Amino acid sequence: METPRSPDSRLLIDGAFVESDGGTMREIVDPATREVIARVPDASPEDVDRAVAAARQTFDEREWPRTPAVERGRILLKLASLVRERSAELAELETRNTGKPIVESEYDISDVAACFEYYGGLATKIHGDVVPVPDGALALALREPVGVAAQIIPWNYPLLMAAWKLAPAICAGCTVVLKPAEETPLTALALARSFEHAGLPPGVVNIVAGDGPHVGARLVAHRDVDKVAFTGSPDVGRQIMHGAAATLKKISLELGGKSPSIFFADADFESAVAGALFGVFLNQGEVCSAGSRILVERPIYRRFLDAMVEKARSIRIGNGLDRETQMGPLITETHRARVRGYQEIGKGEARLALGGGVPAGEPFARGYFVEPTIFYDVDNRARIAQEEIFGPVACVIPFDGEAAALQIANDTHYGLAAAVWSRDIFRVMRVVRSLRAGVVWVNQTQVSAIEAPWGGYKQSGFGRELGRWGLDEYLQVKQVYINVDDQPFKWY
Ligand code: NAI
Ligand code: MG
Repeated sequence: METPRSPDSRLLIDGAFVESDGGTMREIVDPATREVIARVPDASPEDVDRAVAAARQTFDEREWPRTPAVERGRILLKLASLVRERSAELAELETRNTGKPIVESEYDISDVAACFEYYGGLATKIHGDVVPVPDGALALALREPVGVAAQIIPWNYPLLMAAWKLAPAICAGCTVVLKPAEETPLTALALARSFEHAGLPPGVVNIVAGDGPHVGARLVAHRDVDKVAFTGSPDVGRQIMHGAAATLKKISLELGGKSPSIFFADADFESAVAGALFGVFLNQGEVCSAGSRILVERPIYRRFLDAMVEKARSIRIGNGLDRETQMGPLITETHRARVRGYQEIGKGEARLALGGGVPAGEPFARGYFVEPTIFYDVDNRARIAQEEIFGPVACVIPFDGEAAALQIANDTHYGLAAAVWSRDIFRVMRVVRSLRAGVVWVNQTQVSAIEAPWGGYKQSGFGRELGRWGLDEYLQVKQVYINVDDQPFKWY
C-alpha cells in the first residue's frame, strides 16, 4: 500500500520540510499489525550537514540567542497549547507508531504539554550571579546558551523524550538538531508542523530522521555541534563519548537501568503489589526506569508473589488503540526476539511463575506481542537480574532485613532509579540515603515530575533532565570581571 506523502514524512531543515538529499526511504511500521503506516526518508550525510549548518547559522548569525527571554517563553507556552489542541491526534499517532496503550499515550502527550509549559515559565527566570571579589571589582557570572545541541532520542517515549530535550534547549536560547529513533519519527515530525504557528523561528529546531550509526554518529562527531544529549543504551552511550571526544563536546547521557523496588513487610500490601506490577509492566516494560527487580521481604514473599501473579493474569494485551488494552506489542521483531531470548535464559536461571512466551490466538498473530512474565527466587547475580531486558519481564527476589535489601539493590552497574515501600519513615530515610540511584520513589513508582531532576548514577549516565537541572545542561557560565577602580592601570 502506498502511503500518501505528508509534510511530516520529510525532514525539517531551516524551517522547511524537505525531501532527503539522496537518502533512502524507511518504512515506519505499526508494531501491533506490521502495517506500514508511513515512509520517512533517512537523512543523507549532506542532509545532516545542512541541518547542522542551519542550527549553527541561526545561533551565530541570527537574532535567536538574543531573543528576549519573555519571547522564548511565549513560544514554548504557545507550543504547549497547540500540543493540547492536537492531543487526540498526537496520542493516536504515538500509539500507532509504538504500540503503547492509548491511555498511556494520552498521558504522555499531556506531559509533553506540561514540559513546554514548565520551560515556558522558566525562560524569564534564567539569571546569573554577582560575585564578591577583592579590590572593589565586580565579577558577574552570566549564564549563556551553549550553542548547537544534537539531541538523540529513543523509541519508547518518542514525543515525550523529544519534549524533555527540546523544551530546555529552546528555553536556554540554544539551537537544535533532533534525531528521533529510526523506528519512531512520526510524532516529532508531526509536532514540527506546529513550530511556525507557535512563532519558533526557522532553523532553531531541525529534525533529521535516520539510524544511529550514520545519522546519529555524524551529529555526534560534527565540529559545529557544541553539545550532545542522548537517551538510549549504554553501548551507544559509550560510542557517543568516543565520538564526542575529538571535538570535546559537552554530553549528557541517560542510559536506562535495572532498577530495584524494595518491598518491606510493613508496606501497604495492596498498593505495594499494584506498584510492583505497574513499575515493571508499564509501557510493556519498555521503560528506562522500570522496576524490573522486585525485592520482597521474606515474611510477605510468598503471599506477595501469589498476589502479583493473580493480578497480572488479568492484564489485557492487545492493540494499543483499543481503550481496554493495558499492554501493547513490543517495538520491533528484533526487540521481541531479544526479550524472548531473556524469557528463555530466565527459565534456566530462576523459577517461572507467569508467562514466559508469546500470547496465543489470532489477534496476536501479526504483532510483536509477548506475555507479561514473572520469574521468582531469582538470584541477583543471574543475567535476567543484571541485564536490562526492556520488556515485561519481572525478577522477584526475596530478602531478609534492611542490610540485605540494600546490598542486593546496589549490586548492579546501573543506578537510574529505585523505589522503597514501607510505612516506617526512619527506615525509609536510611534506605533512601544508601541507595545509589539518581531517582528514588517512596511508596510510589515511575513518576517523573517535570519540576524535579531526572538522571542516573553509575553506568546509567550523567547529567540531569527536567527542572532547573535540565536547563543547566544547555547553559554555560561566563565570568565578567569589571574593574570599577578609577586609578590608572599599572604593570608592577
Ligand atoms: P539504541 O541506544 O541503539 O538507540 C537509541 C537512539 O540512539 C536511537 O535514536 C538510535 O538511532 C541512536 N543511535 C544508535 N547508535 C548510535 C550511534 N552509534 N551514534 C549515535 N546515535 C546512535 O537503542 P536500541 O538499539 O533501540 O535498543 C537496545 C537497548 O537499549 C534496549 O533493549 C534497551 O535496553 C536500551 N534502551 C534504553 C532506552 C532508555 O530509555 N534508556 C531507550 C531505548 C533503548
Ligand atoms: Mg541500537
